[in-house]
Amino acid sequence: MTTEALFNIDFTNAAYIVAAILFILGLKKLGSPATARNGNRLSALAMLVAVLATVIGNDIASWEWILGGVIVGSGIGAYSARKVQMTSMPQLVAIFNGFGGAASAVVAAAELIHLIDTKVDIAENVSITIMASVIIGSVTLTGSFIAFGKLQGFIPSRPLLIPIRNVINVALLIGLVASTVWLVTDPSLTPFLIAAGIALALGILVVVPIGGADMPVVIALLNSYSGIAGAATGFALGNTILIIAGSLVGASGLILTRIMTKAMNRSLVNVMLGGFGVEDSTGVGGGGDDDRPVRSIQAEDAATILGYAQSVIFVPGYGLAVAQAQHQVRELADLLKDRGISVRYAIHPVAGRMPGHMNVLLAEANVPYDELKDLDQINSEFQRTDVAVVIGANDVTNPAARTDKSSPIYGMPILNVDQAASVIVMKRSMSTGFAGVQNELFFLDRTMMLFGDAKDSVEKILAEVKDL
Ligand code: TAP
Repeated sequence: MTTEALFNIDFTNAAYIVAAILFILGLKKLGSPATARNGNRLSALAMLVAVLATVIGNDIASWEWILGGVIVGSGIGAYSARKVQMTSMPQLVAIFNGFGGAASAVVAAAELIHLIDTKVDIAENVSITIMASVIIGSVTLTGSFIAFGKLQGFIPSRPLLIPIRNVINVALLIGLVASTVWLVTDPSLTPFLIAAGIALALGILVVVPIGGADMPVVIALLNSYSGIAGAATGFALGNTILIIAGSLVGASGLILTRIMTKAMNRSLVNVMLGGFGVEDSTGVGGGGDDDRPVRSIQAEDAATILGYAQSVIFVPGYGLAVAQAQHQVRELADLLKDRGISVRYAIHPVAGRMPGHMNVLLAEANVPYDELKDLDQINSEFQRTDVAVVIGANDVTNPAARTDKSSPIYGMPILNVDQAASVIVMKRSMSTGFAGVQNELFFLDRTMMLFGDAKDSVEKILAEVKDL
């Protein structure tokens, strides 16, 4: 080996170690809203180091192509991240996951074509990892796009149940195993393309039957799949940093999946097998058409109730993100605290449309972190609280999740809002939330509905509390 080649290996490995450390530090910092931005920057820097080290150390492609890819990719990424509404962020994440899976599958395809062209003997472990990469990557691609369609409303968010879907899925799995055995024994592009086609179909069939309320688990799982596909490609190419980065994404995605399954009360085994959250009932828990009477109040009434309370818990949900009311809510909380009232925020792990959605919104409005309480910390506090203020939350407060076995959200741990002495619910209408079921909370005697856009309502309450 020449001195130059040795230098390249050492340089590349040293850079990979730096990148791996930066990835791990970045992930660690993502654990708290206070350090998450720096965590993102560190991880992006790690990726840059990894890409540069790979390109410089391996002399694998011409600079024009690499630079062109970096410029076009970064441009599209920066444009879409800036343009996208905060409420559509989960859709963007779903698409990025899908492209991550597709990238792994395409790189695996390129490696296979290269190996076939050079007519070398392909080792079994290389063929198997190439197949793992294309299968997981393709499932991730189509599964993510179906998740995107469900979140964006292009595809109905209710479970779409295909007859004999389990038989079809088992047949497809057998097809995947058979094409893998074929590729290992007789390497060619045909079994590879068959496996890619089957995996693309499987991604669609696995996600389509999953109801909208289970989408958080699906997105976390697909995120993990995209990492596993990347790690498999790393094994196929013998690229250490791809194995490390892919494994980190795969593992953290799985941890997130575990957190989400716990939050939704689903079993991880069912999640791994796909097709979970599917009840063959259509969720009789009630849709939007419900003419039972509710108690409606005005902003002045809400201001009086809040201004003379001793303890208040704000319960934010997806509607807070839609209304972008976080700054007004913080102002209201400050005003109440000035009056000596205890104020806390109850954060459900799947409130909103992405993990940490409420934390991000409230951090943007500089709400002190110690006032944000998660489900386990706050649930026993509702019964000692004067007023729970539900701001654009719905499914995460629905008591039917505890009692109504026919409800699609049955079993999901909810915030015990119904146990507070009084409940004020801010929303625009009696429409249902993401899961499409009516909320029993709205019909309780202690619940008061304040109809209107959450930002307008909070602004009106603010003005009234100032005059108290
Ligand atoms: P949802 O149950 O989706 O309810 C949101 C409520 O906000 C709606 O009922 C809507 O009622 C109200 N709203 C919308 N715009 C508003 C505005 N401008 N002002 C006031 N209210 C407004 O929200 P949630 O309680 O946060 O529950 C989250 C749901 O999303 C769960 O089912 C969860 O499984 C699912 N999900 C979560 C995630 C993650 S990871 N967090 C990802 C995908 C899906 P009106 O139309 O009457 O105003």
